[in-house]
Amino acid sequence: PRVTIVGAGRVGSTLAQRIAEKNLADVVLLDIVEGMPQGLALDLMEARGIELHNRQIVGTNNYADTAGSQIVVITAGLPRKPGMSRDDLLKTNAKIVVEAAKNAIACSPHAIFIVVTNPLDVMTYLAWQATGLSRERIMGMAGVLDSARFETFIALELGVLPADVKAMVLGSHGDLMVPLSRYATVNGIPITELLDAATIERLVQRTRNGGAEIVELMQTGGAFFAPASATSVMVESILLNQSRLLPIATYLQGEYGLEDVVIGVPCRLGCGGIENVLELNLSDSEREALHTSAQSVRQNIVRAQE
Ligand code: NAI
Repeated sequence: PRVTIVGAGRVGSTLAQRIAEKNLADVVLLDIVEGMPQGLALDLMEARGIELHNRQIVGTNNYADTAGSQIVVITAGLPRKPGMSRDDLLKTNAKIVVEAAKNAIACSPHAIFIVVTNPLDVMTYLAWQATGLSRERIMGMAGVLDSARFETFIALELGVLPADVKAMVLGSHGDLMVPLSRYATVNGIPITELLDAATIERLVQRTRNGGAEIVELMQTGGAFFAPASATSVMVESILLNQSRLLPIATYLQGEYGLEDVVIGVPCRLGCGGIENVLELNLSDSEREALHTSAQSVRQNIVRAQE
C-alpha cells in the first residue's frame, strides 16, 4: 500500500518515518517547498538498511506522484506560535487544507483521508465539504493524541506504566475538549478509586493545555512526535483492518444530539474507514461539555467561510 502525506514539516516527516519503519506502507511526502520533501525522502531511504525495512519513500512537489494512494494524511499548514490559539490559524490553514484535499482526491479517488492540520475539527469539516467524500472516508486526528496525553499525566501521577492506563478524550481539539475521567482506568481499575477529585481535575486541565504547554516550552512550532505516533495508529488500524475503537473527529449526523458538525467521538476504524460511531451514555455535564465544544467548532466553520 501507499500513503501520501501532504505537508512534509515536523509532523508529516515524523509520520513518514513511523509508517516506513513500522513497515506499514510506502510513503509519498509532498510539500510546496521545493527540494525539502525530496531531501527528507532520501534521508529516510538511507536509513532503511539500518532500520531493516524495504519501504519506498518518495519526496515530491507534484500531486501526480501521489496517484493511487490508499490513505492521504493532510498535515500541511502553519503550526501555532507561543500565545496563539489553534483558532488563530483558521483562515490561512483553511485555504491550504481545502486546496490539498481537492488536489489529492483528484489523484487518489479511492483514498481514505486523515486531516491533522489545526484547528483540527474545522479543517476536517472543510476538507469533507471540499472533497464530497462520505463521512466514513474523511476524518480528523486529535482524540488519539489528547487521550495519550491524558494517559501520560495519569501514569506520571500514579507512577505506573503508560501502557497500563486507558482513557478517552472526546470533543473538539482545543480548550473545550472533553476528557472522560470517569471512564479512565489503570488496567481496569477506575482512576476515581486511585486519585482524589482535585488531582483528577488538575490532570484534566493539564491535558486541555497539553499542546500549548509544549508550544510554550519549544517557542518554535509545536508537538510532533506524539502527534505522528497518534496518526500512525489510525493509519495502521485502516491498513491492517484492525477495527480499533478510537476517538476520531468525524462528521456527526444526529449522534449525541449533534448534526452537521465535526467533533471527536468514539469510532471503529477499519479498512473502509469509519465503520461506526459509538454512542456512549454521557452524564448531563459531559453531554453539555460536548455540545459547548461542538458549538465553538460550528462558529469557527462559519468564520472560516466568511
Ligand atoms: P510545520 O510547519 O513543521 O509543517 C507544515 C508544512 O506544511 C511545511 O513544511 C509547509 O511547507 C507545508 N505547507 C504549507 N502550505 C502547503 C501547501 N499549500 N501544500 C503543501 N504543503 C504545504 O508544522 P507541523 O508542526 O508539522 O504542524 C502541521 C500542522 O499540524 C499544524 O497546523 C499544526 O497545528 C497541526 N497539528 C495538529 C495536531 C493534532 O492533534 N491534530 C498535533 C500537532 C500539530
